[in-house]
Amino acid sequence: EKGGYDHFMMKEIYEQPSAIMDTYRGRMLPNEGIIRMAGVDDNIERLANAKRIIVVACGTSWHAGLVSEYIFEDLARIPVEVEYASEFRYRNPVIYENDVVIAISQSGETADTMAAIKLAKEKGAFVFGVCNVVGSSISRETHAGAYTHAGPEIGVASTKAFTTQITVLTLIALKLAKYKGTISDSEFRFHLQELERIPAKISQVLEKNEQVKEIAFTYKDAPNCLYLGRGYNFPVALEGALKLKEISYIHAEGYPAAEMKHGPIALIDEQMPVVVIATNKGHYDKVVSNIQEIKSRSGKIIGIVTEGDEAVKELADYVIEVPETIESLTPLLTTIPLQLLSYHIAVMLGKNVDQPRNLAKSVTVE
Ligand code: F6R
Repeated sequence: EKGGYDHFMMKEIYEQPSAIMDTYRGRMLPNEGIIRMAGVDDNIERLANAKRIIVVACGTSWHAGLVSEYIFEDLARIPVEVEYASEFRYRNPVIYENDVVIAISQSGETADTMAAIKLAKEKGAFVFGVCNVVGSSISRETHAGAYTHAGPEIGVASTKAFTTQITVLTLIALKLAKYKGTISDSEFRFHLQELERIPAKISQVLEKNEQVKEIAFTYKDAPNCLYLGRGYNFPVALEGALKLKEISYIHAEGYPAAEMKHGPIALIDEQMPVVVIATNKGHYDKVVSNIQEIKSRSGKIIGIVTEGDEAVKELADYVIEVPETIESLTPLLTTIPLQLLSYHIAVMLGKNVDQPRNLAKSVTVE
């Protein structure tokens, strides 16, 4: 049932190339320059004319929502707010009838996300669901939606659900961008072609597993770990930290790299591993200066870089290379080594990877 892997989590990490293909199969035709998604096509006016998109979700799904904020704003020029469902529902939020609420949930059963959807519907908003479990409560409660088609995710720590959520949200943003004319036809096609290349590139990253394992061995006894990223990769830093906390019980924090100097830099000493996502697009030079700041305080640096990188390699204790892609798709690649890192550390520490203490696969309590 684990397909030859020791844990569901590892199986699900390795399923990501095929899961992402399943997400876009039948929806995207790169050569024709077409994306077909019934839930979007049937409501295109409502979605494209949204004055604002409010994303509601929890945990890893909330991180996928944060990535989508960059994608929707960048490509479709629609302002986005990303909310923890639990905060949104309890604070008398301002919701207009021309707002679109996107609810993201792997299980489709998360109680807080469900309550946020009900509230948004009461206020007249259009609610679009991005769920993995077909026929789940949230998929039934929303006005329209798109499934991630990732297949069952058994490991409590979410992996393939995250990358397929980003894939679906990218497709939606591209579709709205095309409809609104905020992206040129050639850019649109280019994005689709690049997305089609992602599964093979993830397979290349998965080949770095042994290298990641070595890094895991070096840092497995660290009591704390910091994750930094900027732009599209800031939410990936949050997700990397969450994965480590959940399954290895090591305290970890994710931060936007530039925020480090406003506080967390005080934590850095020779005991502190810092995972820095420093791909070659999107403020690369700034991230390199952040790395220098860590280095000069004796922090240990694990860089996630683009193939062929030189500057980070000189400064870092370890680097993991990921293939080149367009900036908006980098999270689909940079997430992979972070999943593997937390997996190996948890296994080396003898933790129950698939069923971490205190956690449940779907949180149906409020
Ligand atoms: C993280 C994790 C949780 C879930 C969160 C939302 O690995 O599993 O943080 O992401 O409970 O769950 P869904 O997406 O089912 O609403």
